[in-house]
Amino acid sequence: MKKLMAANWKMYKLAAEAGATASALAGKLDGRLPRDREVLVIPPFTALAATAKALAGQPGFSLGGQNFYPSKQGAFTGEIAPEMLLDAGCRYALAGHSERRHILGEDDVLVGRKTAFGLTCGLSMILCVGEKVEERQAGQVEAVLTRQLAAGLADVPADVSPDALAIAYEPVWAIGTGLTAGPAEVAEAHRVVRAFLVERFRPGGAKIRILYGGSVKPGNAGELLGIDNVDGVLVGGASLEAESFAAIVTA
Ligand code: 13P
Repeated sequence: MKKLMAANWKMYKLAAEAGATASALAGKLDGRLPRDREVLVIPPFTALAATAKALAGQPGFSLGGQNFYPSKQGAFTGEIAPEMLLDAGCRYALAGHSERRHILGEDDVLVGRKTAFGLTCGLSMILCVGEKVEERQAGQVEAVLTRQLAAGLADVPADVSPDALAIAYEPVWAIGTGLTAGPAEVAEAHRVVRAFLVERFRPGGAKIRILYGGSVKPGNAGELLGIDNVDGVLVGGASLEAESFAAIVTA
């Protein structure tokens, strides 16, 4: 399975800027995308069309949505449906990002509904998990990850295709802070996630990708990608510039 190199642009970039960044990224990686890597760009909704246009026909690139509401359609003002993301060219979507859990108030149950519903609609889902600093200090990392994984995957069928599901371990204290979890902390958290996946999905669980996220930069990406069970990265700040994200993708 290729390493998944994902750029989460969060609430940054107007459409023209997103298109320009995506074009610059595709240009920088043209002929240089390592064979064992795939690139995923996750722009804000309003920039999906421009980003899709810029990446059209680029082998090894795909598009993702940052969020959706788990219903086919309906009276959900302000929300967007999985089918709309697919229609806009998305293959992937995120669920359970810490900013949605902790700023927008999404709980484990809603995250689980999104993960299962997105899969049934044909999206490949990236379920994000990760502990807060006080949970780490209290020795609760394994308990928090296990709780988030159990709820987030509660309704995912046991025979889910490993292509259709990835987990992103993003310790909340490392997101946007410049702090990165150390290699031992990353290895231990990813071991916990892997053990859960193998228990839950048997042999398929060994093939589900586990991404690391939290202050990934060109200078630390290579080391992070060398850790056992790190099958890709989910990058915020350092993905906003084509140059630094291209450096991460080729690290
Ligand atoms: P940063 O890379 O800015 O720390 O953000 C990580 C993240 O939240 C990606 O989803």
